[in-house]
Parts: sequence; structure tokens; C-alpha cells
Amino acid sequence: MTRIALDADAGRHTISRHVYGHFSEHLGRCIYDGFWVGEDSPIPNTRGIRDDLVEALRAIRIPNLRWPGGCFADEYHWRDGVGPRERRPKNINTHWGGVIETNHFGTHEFMDLCDQLGCDPYICGNVGSGSVREMQQWVEYLTSDADDTMAELRRANGRAEPWKIRFWGVGNENWGCGGNMRPEYYADLYRQYATYLRDFAGNRLYPIACGASGDDYRWTEVLMQRTPRLEALSLHYYTRFVPGRPRTTATGFGEEDWFGLLQRALRMDELITRHSTIMDRYDPDGRVALIVDEWGTWHDPEPGTNPRFLYQQSTMRDALVAALTLDIFNRHCARVRGAQIAQTVNVLQAMALTEGERMLLTPTYHVFDLYQGHQDATSLPLDVRPDRYGLGDDSIPAVSASASRDAAGGVLLTMSNLDPNRSHHVVAEIRGAGWNDANRPGVEARTLTADTMQAHNTFDDPHAVRIAPFDGAHYTDGVLHASLPAMSVVAVQIG
Ligand code: AHR
Repeated sequence: MTRIALDADAGRHTISRHVYGHFSEHLGRCIYDGFWVGEDSPIPNTRGIRDDLVEALRAIRIPNLRWPGGCFADEYHWRDGVGPRERRPKNINTHWGGVIETNHFGTHEFMDLCDQLGCDPYICGNVGSGSVREMQQWVEYLTSDADDTMAELRRANGRAEPWKIRFWGVGNENWGCGGNMRPEYYADLYRQYATYLRDFAGNRLYPIACGASGDDYRWTEVLMQRTPRLEALSLHYYTRFVPGRPRTTATGFGEEDWFGLLQRALRMDELITRHSTIMDRYDPDGRVALIVDEWGTWHDPEPGTNPRFLYQQSTMRDALVAALTLDIFNRHCARVRGAQIAQTVNVLQAMALTEGERMLLTPTYHVFDLYQGHQDATSLPLDVRPDRYGLGDDSIPAVSASASRDAAGGVLLTMSNLDPNRSHHVVAEIRGAGWNDANRPGVEARTLTADTMQAHNTFDDPHAVRIAPFDGAHYTDGVLHASLPAMSVVAVQIG
């Protein structure tokens, strides 16, 4: 049995909705043939942007979208992507397969996409191969309302009003594809670039410095030490293949790979804890945010697809990685105030896959749906004493959980059973909610589960894995009993 104790009256920190953010790069079929189908496409679209995808992402209240990369960002020159489309230059996307980048999707198209989605844009600027002036002018182009040349160029390109934009990445993975820099060098560059990120017309930029890869704690140490005016630092961590195991695809795996991948996903907790410990030393008041702006599963590409397009399916295993990772973010919400799963459509751990007119929603999408209620709610401290799920000589917690309280006093408890072989019973004591006989809360539970570890949605069977009502949760007198089916995610809304 797994025991959970949570204090409904002891929450201190808000789970920023921006932790439920997404990432879209000019990579494979994410932008072109994903979001962007073009205005002349028979696929229903609004100004070239695919309607069904926009509708699906609005339904999970997408809070922000990061663009244009990724590694692509440090090779992207924004002026290539504005002005009449037929006159935009054609470049080679050297990082992702050497395909032709038409630049048909540029700044205006991205800002239109964010408007259609109702989300905040998060633009990642080019440090690796750009210049301070180029980045400064991009901000001016987007946000100035003066009679300056950049604002006039924007007006000439069809947008009279300046946009508002907050999230601004100062480079991407500058320790690798973004310039192979040492942290000391990047810290100096960050200071230089950030100096010239000006606020125009009441806009207020929130610069996000390039952070570490996984357990590169030195990068965080150097950045915290050398950039005193830092506001936010990123972190990238992908859950990749299990070392020592033969390589597998998203759907072709056995229980060792199931176990190994979930075990690697659980490392996110240690990474955030250790990066936060370093940040705490320099920033005891928690002013600087940690933004996990790339995370998710990274499997070998689907056979028969371009290996540089990073197209993969998404199974129940990926759904559980998403659920346990979001639980970790919710529990660390004091420091983790933003995150973007990679990537939204047709690339890595996507929300949706498309094939011509057809689109399917992945099990991972459904996890984001089940977790919606955590957005901007108060994180509740919880003590979890989980059963173990063992394989061979090793074991991991069988149950992952997080909880939050909304403005109306309702509690959302999300729980996952990582064990593919058996159900696990959870007894959750909920203290301090103020519920009693005269004030009995309603209980509504939903689940995402499947009969096999490899279960996934296909274009012919797009609803094989989907959310269903759950009747295995019962609440009486401050205690919730739930029997979590094998390999399941369960969301219980109480009150
Ligand atoms: O998301 C795919 C790639 O992973 C990104 O371009 C890069 O930032 C990371 O290495």
C-alpha cells in the first residue's frame, strides 16, 4: 500500500502555468507540415496555421510556446523570416537534415500562432552565430511603437501595433550546438546581450539565460556567480535510451526498457534539487527562476523516417514519463517557474502527430489534459510513502504524485502507477481542507491507462489510449482510497 499525507492548508507556492509550456523548432515536421500547412492547403487552416492542432492545444490551455529552436535558434537570422514570403531567402537547415528552410514561417507567423493559441510567445535569440545588434533589433521590431526604422519595417510588413513579449531566451545550448562555449565565456556574453535587450512601449522582457545540460552543475555555479542580474536560468534534460541496453524505438521495447526509462526520468528530481541548491547559495530569496525549457523522451526515430527529423511515436511509457516529470515540477514550483516539453508536434515527445489531413493526440497530450487543474494553483506539500516496483535487483517508487489547491478550495491530486504488472492501492490522508459532514466535497476522478506498455494511438485507431472516467477512488472523512490500475495516471478532483 502507498500512503500519502497532504496538507491542504499549508501550500505556500504557486505552480506557474508556464511549467505546462511547449516547444516548437524548425526541425523535421514540427513547423512545416506540423503547425504550418500554408494558406492554400486543403487542410483547414487560419492564415496557414492548422486549425485542428490549434484547437487541441487551446483545449489543454497551452500557456507558452518556445520558438524557433533549439539548435536552430543559434543559426536563425530573423530578418530572413519577415516580408513577402516569395522573397524570403531559402537557407539550408544545417543542423536538422540539411533540408531547405523556406522561411515561410517567421516572426509574424509565429506571433499569429501564439495569438491563435492564446498563449505567451517565448522567443529564443541567436547568440551562437548572431550579434548583439541583430538581437536588439529583433526586440525593437517586435515591440517598438516609435517612428524608428525597425517599427516602420514591421508596419510595412503588415503589423501596425507592436506586440508584447516577455520570455526571451539569450541563446540555446551555448555549451554545445549554440557555440561550444565555456560557461565563463557565455556568462560574459549573457551580460553583454542582456544589457541591450531594451524594453519598448511598456513591454517588459524577461531574459532567460542558457543553462546547464543535465548534471553539469559547474555551468550553473559559474552563471550564478558571474551574472548578478540574472532573472532566469534554463535546464535541459532528455530521458534517452537506457545505457547498456540494445537501442529501441518508442514502441519496440520490453519491460527492462520500460523500467530503465522511468528510472532515468525520475532523475529530474535529483537534477532540480542539486541545481537549486547551487542557486540557493547565490540567491537565497529564490528570485532567479529555473526554466526547464527542453525535456521529454528521446527515442530512436521511427523506422523509415528521416533520422534527423526525430519523429517518434508516444506510448503509455511516455505518458508516465510526462506525469512523473510534471509531478516533480509541481513539487519544485518555488524554483521551477517554467518548462517546455520537446516538441509540440511530430518531433520527440509530441502532443500530436499529423499525416496529411489526419491528426492524432498522443497519450502525453492526455496527461497534460489531466494535469490542467494544477496551472496557477497552489502546490500542496505532500509526503508520499510509496510501494516499490522492482525488476531484477533494482526498484523504483511504484507511485508518483503531486497535489494542488485552486482558488475555490478544490484539491487536485494526480497519481501515477509506474508498475506495468499490478495495481497499487493508495490511501491519501487530506488534512486541513475544512471539509465536514455539512460541507462534503464532490469527487471526480479520471484516468489514462492501457492494457500494454506499448499502447499508443495510430491514425487508424486514434483513440486507443484516451482519458476515461475512473470509479476506483472513494473519499470519506478526510481519507481518499484509490486503487491505481497497472500503468495508469489518475487525476482526482476533490471539492
Ligand atoms: O529538441 C531537439 C534538440 O535538442 C534541440 O534543438 C536542442 O536544443 C537539444 O539538444
